[in-house]
Amino acid sequence: MTGLVIAIDGPSGVGKSTVSREVARRLGLSYLDTGATYRVTALACMREGVSFAEEADVVAMVETMNVELVLDPVNPFVLLDGEEVSMLLRSEAVTSAVSAVSTNLEARAALGRWQREVIAREVEGGFSEGRGVVAEGRDITTVIAPDADVRVLMTAHPEVRVARRAAEGGHESGHEAGVHASIAQIRAGVLGRDAKDSTVVNFTTAADGVITLDTTDLTIDEAVGAIVDLARGARP
Ligand code: DC
Repeated sequence: MTGLVIAIDGPSGVGKSTVSREVARRLGLSYLDTGATYRVTALACMREGVSFAEEADVVAMVETMNVELVLDPVNPFVLLDGEEVSMLLRSEAVTSAVSAVSTNLEARAALGRWQREVIAREVEGGFSEGRGVVAEGRDITTVIAPDADVRVLMTAHPEVRVARRAAEGGHESGHEAGVHASIAQIRAGVLGRDAKDSTVVNFTTAADGVITLDTTDLTIDEAVGAIVDLARGARP
């Protein structure tokens, strides 16, 4: 039997990363943050002076950049040319540029191939030693892993998402994590980025067979528990 695949989608600020990491930790699975693949592409382009308007050059960057994803749910990180860039990936500069990558359809296809390879590796071996993977993003339940054992769309009322992002330090606003940003700036960042991303991928309504988990009134622990229960039900 191959490893378990849990696919989790949802908009900014819904708590996907926190919940996905904890689900992976509890079940002994690896953790794949697909948003990080978009973010590291943006960073690599910025460093190499690749213009986001030159879509083919962005795709070439995806295919040539030297990136390692470490899938440990307790301490996930990303290496670009051997340098730990996880904090930089959350920076203002990357956050405000990343939609240029996520709306580039060829880049999405190339990043999607990479994400599928990671998932395929984790169900056979890899960091999880074949136990499997929790993959989170916007199109995991629909495009990247539509055959996943568990497919969940996390939602929450927009104001709740803005408040959750504010509690994290408000990097969605275009401010460095930890630097004060007003609620209005955070709201504009969260909702603005969702509006751009939803032009290329639907992450607001669940596809057939995908379970919607409305977390508006749930604690992190309750959301984690709900997904862990689904996983246990998927492989009794
Ligand atoms: O989840 P995040 O904020 O790190 O995502 C970064 C960007 O990548 C954001 O613009 C959404 C986009 N994204 C996507 O289009 N598809 C995914 N599977 C993951 C992220």
